[in-house]
Amino acid sequence: MCGIIGYTGSQSALPILLDGLSRMEYRGYDSAGVAVLCDGKIEVEKAHGRLQNLIEKTGDGHALPGFAGIGHTRWATHGAPNDINSHPHVSGDGRFAIVHNGIIENFAELKAELEARGHTFVSETDTEVVAHLIESYYKGDFKAAVMKAVSRLEGAYALGIVCADHPGTVFGVSKAAPLIVGLGIGENFFASDVTALVSYTKNVIYLNDGEFAEVRSDDVVVYNEIGRPVEKTVSRVAWSIEAAEKGGYEHFMLKEIMEQPAAVKEAIAPRIKGGEIVLDDFELSAEELKKIRKIVITACGSAYHAGCCGRYAIESLTRIPVEVKLASEFRYEDPIIDEHTLMIIVSQSGETADTKAALEEGRRRGASVLAIVNVVGSTIARLADHVLYEWAGPEIAVATTKGFTTQLVLLYLFALYAAKKLKKLDDFEYARLLGEICSLPKRIQNAIDLNGQVIPRLAEKYHNKGSIFFIGRNTDYAVALEGALKMKEISYIHAESYAAGELKHGTIALIDDGTPVVAVCCNESLLEKTANNILEVKARGAEVLALSFRENREIIAQADDVLFVPKTETVFSPAVAVIPLQLLAYYVARANGCDIDKPKNLAKSVTVE
Ligand code: AGP
Repeated sequence: MCGIIGYTGSQSALPILLDGLSRMEYRGYDSAGVAVLCDGKIEVEKAHGRLQNLIEKTGDGHALPGFAGIGHTRWATHGAPNDINSHPHVSGDGRFAIVHNGIIENFAELKAELEARGHTFVSETDTEVVAHLIESYYKGDFKAAVMKAVSRLEGAYALGIVCADHPGTVFGVSKAAPLIVGLGIGENFFASDVTALVSYTKNVIYLNDGEFAEVRSDDVVVYNEIGRPVEKTVSRVAWSIEAAEKGGYEHFMLKEIMEQPAAVKEAIAPRIKGGEIVLDDFELSAEELKKIRKIVITACGSAYHAGCCGRYAIESLTRIPVEVKLASEFRYEDPIIDEHTLMIIVSQSGETADTKAALEEGRRRGASVLAIVNVVGSTIARLADHVLYEWAGPEIAVATTKGFTTQLVLLYLFALYAAKKLKKLDDFEYARLLGEICSLPKRIQNAIDLNGQVIPRLAEKYHNKGSIFFIGRNTDYAVALEGALKMKEISYIHAESYAAGELKHGTIALIDDGTPVVAVCCNESLLEKTANNILEVKARGAEVLALSFRENREIIAQADDVLFVPKTETVFSPAVAVIPLQLLAYYVARANGCDIDKPKNLAKSVTVE
C-alpha cells in the first residue's frame, strides 16, 4: 500500500505535501517523492528510504516554490525501492507527473505499445507507463487525456496527476483504491487517507470506484467514468488531528494499546439503547436470521484472528455454524456459498485487497455481506450490504491493537443480537451477557493496569529468544494466534501458536531446555487440560509464561511466570486476554530496538494480492 496526496491553493504546496505524507508514512515507507508546479514547469524531488530523507533533500520544505503539487510515500510492488523507482514519475516530454497507489495489471502490454511508438522508460514501475500513456493522448485537454489513458488501465489504482500546462489543477482518480478529496477555503486537497487532510479541513468527499476529481483552488468537479459531472455528498470527519498524533507516547502502538478501553466503549455505547442491542443500519429479522444456514467470516492477519475469536461467541449463542476463512485462500477454494450464507468481512482499513476480493466472490455466489470496518468510507465499507464501523479512531501503528479489540466486541454484539432474535436465550441471560460485553472496557483497563509494570521487566527475559510458542485451547488458542502474530511482526522473533492439545502430535519435539512457551489459560472449562499441557512442555525443559486469572491457583503454581487478567465470560475472554500479549510483543520489540510503528517489510494495509 502507498499513500498519495495532492494540493492546490494559495499556500506553498511543498510543506503541505510533506506534512500529509508524514501522516501517511505508515502506509508505506520504502521511498517518498513530490512534484510541484513551479513557473510552468514540474519540479520533482524524490528519495529512497524514510520520508525524513526527502524532507532534508527539499530543504525542510523550503525548496520547490509553487502552489500546486502531488506527493507519494511508497511500499514497493513493481521495482526495487530506490530513487529511480520512487514516485512521482514523469512523462517523456516532462509535461505530466503522476503518483499512484495500487497496481496496473496490464502495464507490460501498454509499455510495449508505447515503446513501439518511440517512448523510452527509466524505471521498472507500472506507474511510469501511465504518465507516458497520458502524454500519448494529450492534445491540450488535460481531463480528456487523463480519462482516455485511464480507460486503458486494468487493475486497482488511486492516481494523482499534474500537468505543466495547467498549473492550478491537480487531478485525482480512484479505482479500487481509496481517494478522499478535502475541501478547504481557497484551497483543495486529495489524499489516500483522511489523516493527511484533517489538519486542514474536516469536509471531505469520498470518491467512488471509477470517479475522477478535477481539483482547483476554488473548485472541485467530480466526474464519473464517462466524464459526466456527478453530485457528491460532503462528509464531516468525526475526529481531530490529535487523534492521529502520538500524544506523548513513545510509539503509536503503545498509545493505541492504551486507547483500547475508550475505543471498545465507543464501539459498544452507541449500539445499546434501552437495554437492547441496536446495530446501526443493520436490521435482520428473526425470519431472515432463520434462513441463514451458515456464517462465513473472512479476513486477513489479525482481522482473521478476530474472526477466529468471534466464531466461538457466535456459534455458542446462535447455534449457527461459523466458518472462518483466510481471505487469500477463500476465493480459490470454490467456496460453498449461497443465498443462505451470511458473510462477515472483517477489515480495519477496509482496503485489504485479498479481503475485498473475498467479499466480491461471496457476493457473486449469492451471500449477503456484513462488513466490520474501522475506516469510514473505505472500499470494503462501500461494497458491503451492511457496515458496522469500529469507531476506534485512526489506527496508525502497522500492528493493529484497538482495531482488533473493537472488531471482537462488534462480533460479540452481533452474536448476542442474533441470539436474542432467534430466541436462543431468555431475557435474564441476554441481560447478563449484555452486561458482560458492557464490562469489557473496564476489564481491558484492568488488564492494562495489572500488566503495565510487570511486562517491561518480563520482556528482558524474552527479547533475545530465537523462538516463542503460544499455546491454548478453544478461545485461548484463537488468542494465541494473535499473540504470536504480534510478537513476530514487531519484534521479528519467530513465534508459533499451537492448539495446546495438538502439541504432542509432533511439534513438542521442538520443545527443549529453556524454550519459552506462553500458555493462555483463560477458558475456564479447559483449565485442567491446559494445565496438563503445561506439565508436558515443562517436562521437556520449557520455560512457561502463563496468562490467567488470580483464582487459577493450579496454573500459577506450575508456571515460571504468570500474567494476570480479570476473569471474563469465556466466549468474550479473548478481548481481555489479548491485552498482555500485545504489551509483551511491544516491550520485547522495544527491548530489541525495533521500529515498532513501521516494522520492516510491512504496511498498514496490503492493497495488493
Ligand atoms: C496486524 O497487526 C497486521 N498489521 C495485519 O495482519 C493486518 O491485520 C491485516 O493485514 C489485515 O488488515 P485489515 O484489517 O486492514 O484488513
